[in-house]
Amino acid sequence: MEKKNEFNSKAGFILAAAGSSIGLGNLWSFPYKASQNGGAAFVFAYIISVIILGSILAIAEIYIGKRSRANPITSYKKISKYLGWVGVVGIFTAFIITCYYIVLGGYTIKYTVNSFSDNSNILESFSGSIWQVILFTAIFIGLSLVVVSLGVKNGIEKSSKILMPALIVILIGVVIYCLTLGEGVKEGLNYYLNPDFKALGFKGILAAMSQAFFSLSVGAGSLITYGSYTGKDIRVGKSVLWIAFFDTLVAFLAGLAIFPSIYHYQAETGIALQNNGIVLLFSSMPIVFSSLGTFGKVISFFFFGMVSIAAITSVISLLEVVAQYLIQRHHLKRKIVCMVIAIISLVISIPIGMSLGFSLNNEPYLLIDGKNLLEIIDLMVNSVFIPANALLASIAIGWLLYKDKKKRFSFKYLSENLEEDGLKLGKFRYIFAFMIKYIIPILVIVIEVIGIIDIVFPLSGSSRSFSLTGLIIELIAFIIIGICMFLFFVFLKDKDTGTNDSEYQTTDEISNDNKL
Ligand code: PHE
Repeated sequence: MEKKNEFNSKAGFILAAAGSSIGLGNLWSFPYKASQNGGAAFVFAYIISVIILGSILAIAEIYIGKRSRANPITSYKKISKYLGWVGVVGIFTAFIITCYYIVLGGYTIKYTVNSFSDNSNILESFSGSIWQVILFTAIFIGLSLVVVSLGVKNGIEKSSKILMPALIVILIGVVIYCLTLGEGVKEGLNYYLNPDFKALGFKGILAAMSQAFFSLSVGAGSLITYGSYTGKDIRVGKSVLWIAFFDTLVAFLAGLAIFPSIYHYQAETGIALQNNGIVLLFSSMPIVFSSLGTFGKVISFFFFGMVSIAAITSVISLLEVVAQYLIQRHHLKRKIVCMVIAIISLVISIPIGMSLGFSLNNEPYLLIDGKNLLEIIDLMVNSVFIPANALLASIAIGWLLYKDKKKRFSFKYLSENLEEDGLKLGKFRYIFAFMIKYIIPILVIVIEVIGIIDIVFPLSGSSRSFSLTGLIIELIAFIIIGICMFLFFVFLKDKDTGTNDSEYQTTDEISNDNKL
C-alpha cells in the first residue's frame, strides 16, 4: 500500500522536529537570557537542562505519539481512558502559543521585506500601526498554513528539508560576518561568554530549565503530533540527540552574531544599545545593521529572513497539532481546517498585537498592570501550561503505562517494557526509565511551583511583594486547565477522537489513493 501521511525519512523527521524546536526561543530569548544570567554559566546550565530534562521529555512525548499514531487526545486515551484531557491541554497550549507567536512572526516578515529601506527606527511606528501588524501577521500565518495544508510529507517534511539547511547556512554566514567586524567584537564575546556563576544563581538555573522546555518544543503537543507521524524505522532516542544538538547549536550561534555586533556598534558610536526583550531583536539589531551601510542591508535581509524561517517552522508544528486533531475528530478536509484555524488565530492575535503595540509606544491601553497581553499569555504558557504538560507526560509514561501492581516502583520493569514495545534506547534505557519515573516529575514540579511563586510574589528590589494580577493570571491558567478537563469528560471521553488513519479516508489525496 502507498505510504500514508507520515514522515518519509529519518532525516525528514529530524529536520521537521528541529524546525519546531529552533525558533524565536533560540534566536532571541536564549541569547538575552544567557547574557542576563551569567553568560557561559547559563549556556552550561542550559546544556545540562537540555540533556537531563528536555531530551528525556522530548523522547517521552515523541514516543507517546508514536505508539498510538494519533492526535494528543487519542494518544493519552490510549495510555488511560481518563487521561485524554491532558491531550486537550496540549492542543490548547499549541493553539494559544500560535496566537501570540504569529504576531512576532509578522514582525519578522515586515523586517525582512523592509531590510532594504531602513529598519532602524520603525519599531514604534510599525507596532503602533494596527493595520500593518494585522497584515503581516496574516501573511505569516498564511505562509505557515500553506505548508500545513499540504500535509506532513508534502508540506512539513519537504519544506523543512529546504528551510532548515538554509537557516543553518545563513546563520553561519551572519556569525562569520559579525565576528569579523573588528572593534568591540571582543567585548561582545566577553559579555556573552564570560562565565559568571554568581550571576547564574538558582534563578538562572530555573530560567535555563524552562528555556530548555520551550526551546525543545516540549509540553505543547508538537512532539506528540510529530511523533505520531513516524514509522517503525525511526529511532526516537537517536533522533532526539540530533534535534537537541541542532537546537542548542543554533541558540549558541545566535548569541555569537548578536552580541559582537551590538558591542561593535557601541565601540564605534559610543551609544549603548538595549539588549533586552523584544527591543533587542527589533530595535537594537536594526540600528546595528543600518550603521553598516549597504552591506548591512543585505545582512539584515538574511538575518531577518532566517528569523522568519525559524519562526515559520515552529508555528507549522504548533498548527499541525490543532489541525491534526480537528481533521481526525471531525473528519474534515485538511484545507478547510487550515482556513478555519487561520481565521480564528488571526482574530485572536489582533488584540495581542494591539496590546504589544501600545506597550511599545508607552500608551496605557490593553495593558494589565503594565504588562501587555503577549507577555501575560507567555507567562501563563511558560509557568503553567508547558510544565503541566511536561509533568503529565512524565507521569503517563513513568507510572500509568504499565500497571503491574507489584512492580509498580521498579524502573527496570518500566525500561524492559518500553524496550519490548519498541522504544529502543540501548544502554540508556535504564537511565531514561529512572529519570522519567522519579527525577523528572520532581524537577518539573519544582520548576512549576517556583515559576508560580515568582509571578504571584514577584521580586521587587531585594524583597518579594504580593501581586494580585500575578495571582489572577495564574488562577486563570489553572481554570483553563479545569475547563479542558471538563470539556474532555463531558464531550470526548466516550467519543471516537480519531487516529492518523482517520485522516486518510477524508482527504482528497486519500480518496485518490483508494481509487488506485
Ligand atoms: N521551540 C520553539 C522556539 O524555540 C517554540 C515552540 C514551542 C514551538 C512549543 C512548538 C512548540 O521558539
